[in-house]
Amino acid sequence: MHESTSNPTEQLVDVAQTASIFQVSASTIRSWRRRQVSWLPAPVAQLNGGAVWLRSEVSREAARYHHEGYSNNRTVSLARDRAAGRFYTPSDTAHFLADWLLRAGARSFLEPSFGDAAFIVAVNEQAEKLGLERVTWIGAELDVQAVKRARLASDLLPSEIRSGNFLALEAEPVDAVMANPPYVRLRHLDEETKRQSRKVVFQSTGELLSPSASLWLPFLIHSISFLNRGGMLAMVLPSDFTYVRYARKYWGWLSTQFEELRVVRVRQRLFPDLNQDVILLLASGHGGATQSVKFEAYESVPDLIESRPNVQSDIQISKIVSGERSFQRALAGSDVWSMLQEEFAGSLTPASDLMRFRIGYVAGDKDFFHPPSEVAEAYDLPAASLRKSITNGRRLKGHGLSTSKLPESAVDELWLPTGGELSDGELRYVRYGEQLGVSSGYKASRRDPWFRVPTVEIPDLIMTVFSESPLVLINDAELTASNSLLCGYLISGAVEQFVLNWYSPLTQLSIASEVHSLGGGVMVLVPNEANSVLMSDLRRPESDLLSIAGALASGNVEEAYLSGRAALENRAGAENVQMIIEATERLHHWRVRPN
Ligand SMILES: C[S@@+](CC[C@H](N)C(=O)[O-])C[C@H]1O[C@@H](n2cnc3c(N)ncnc32)[C@H](O)[C@@H]1O
Repeated sequence: MHESTSNPTEQLVDVAQTASIFQVSASTIRSWRRRQVSWLPAPVAQLNGGAVWLRSEVSREAARYHHEGYSNNRTVSLARDRAAGRFYTPSDTAHFLADWLLRAGARSFLEPSFGDAAFIVAVNEQAEKLGLERVTWIGAELDVQAVKRARLASDLLPSEIRSGNFLALEAEPVDAVMANPPYVRLRHLDEETKRQSRKVVFQSTGELLSPSASLWLPFLIHSISFLNRGGMLAMVLPSDFTYVRYARKYWGWLSTQFEELRVVRVRQRLFPDLNQDVILLLASGHGGATQSVKFEAYESVPDLIESRPNVQSDIQISKIVSGERSFQRALAGSDVWSMLQEEFAGSLTPASDLMRFRIGYVAGDKDFFHPPSEVAEAYDLPAASLRKSITNGRRLKGHGLSTSKLPESAVDELWLPTGGELSDGELRYVRYGEQLGVSSGYKASRRDPWFRVPTVEIPDLIMTVFSESPLVLINDAELTASNSLLCGYLISGAVEQFVLNWYSPLTQLSIASEVHSLGGGVMVLVPNEANSVLMSDLRRPESDLLSIAGALASGNVEEAYLSGRAALENRAGAENVQMIIEATERLHHWRVRPN
């Protein structure tokens, strides 16, 4: 019998011995345990308050770890993992970013909001694997518990930790920033943090920060002020950064800060717990300047690590600043946009030239302001103060192309007292609303009187908002609509003509590239996006309205859009229309991601 098995305790190894068998530090073993990496066997027991492993298991896995390439070639190990059907964790992305920064020579790092220290662990591990000395850190974090955990885990030295608000921190020079900053809206933060945010943004860029901005933007800007000349940055940011209005001008500023800017998008979720679409911003050569962003999109994390982009495109920064949805356009494929320019030269117009879209009225309390008929009867609300209204887009489906075809069940009544005196019943209803607390609600309390809903209008068109193929109805019944819908007001031409041009595959492509989506891939049409949807005069016969109405009546919205295909083909040829349809499908593919 082998000597080590004669004494049972000799079969067991503690953290320090396990670390020495793997040839890593004890803190790496602790972080592996936290991350539950596949190559570290599970401890078999707790002895004297610490975990212990079977020596034989540790030795076997450590041999595999070194032999099969986990230790110095992440790509090999990831490829092997994939072959084994394992899935990839966020830490693979963190290691990828760490590897990029370290190989380029970064040795001092800033992590402005380290949280669970995932990025710090990744950099420290990767440095060890590359045979580098431990890098130095400035690690900031607001959450005291997270700071405590970091002190215990010893991923950071006490002198490297900055406990508190990163935005209040004086810049100290570093080679690299690696961060996944908080994404909280400024309006949800305390006054002091808002003030700090405005201050750091103004100091660095000379720009005034919009109140609708989120905290990641001042984090990005303040982090850059820490960088040495030639420094680099790797940050996980919300995809909103590629289009949201308040952030556009900072692309112009970024272009004066770095020699190279890369934006990476991965279709597979990078952070399974995060229901937010993210991009990776990789910037290098601080102190330089560039006119463009290299955009790369990957199907999965392994594709990113193995450098197999599905889409690669150089995007002019001036276009991002001007509000063009350049990243979306790149995902759709550049050829479709050049084709559209050629085939439709000068005839593509934004919808807003013909129809101005605005959000419907804001009642403030949906139930109170849309009383069901029994309640309206009980309070004797006069018919003259009840307006037929649409408050729910889902109820519009399957009834054709015009609001006059809607069944009663799809229409609510908005209580909107006319300018004169309130009836006795209405006065009772007002008191009832006050008892319910409706009068002190956010919207109601800001108007006088609280119960008169402002800007209730009758649009020419009503459009649903949560779809890549929104339903558009001609409002011939002169209904009004709440803020769950978009309302279109005719600027020029006839509403029927607008609808004929709207229901076409060309509009679908434009919607797919102009409209933003929520984390789960659900689109949300907001007025300025609906207004910028591109349309062309397709010269469709009025009789086509019947086929649109027929498709909509049978609940087939897709078919209504496809009804414009023939007219579009007459205009641009079948091949080009096929190209439009495929580009729309590509955008759908990138928007709706696997879990
Ligand atoms: C999205 S988490 C990122 C954590 C870490 N970078 C990671 O990838 O695991 C954001 C972190 O920002 C921290 N945070 C929020 N506001 C902060 C501030 N003003 N200064 C420093 N940290 C802050 C939060 O406590 C949280 O840990």
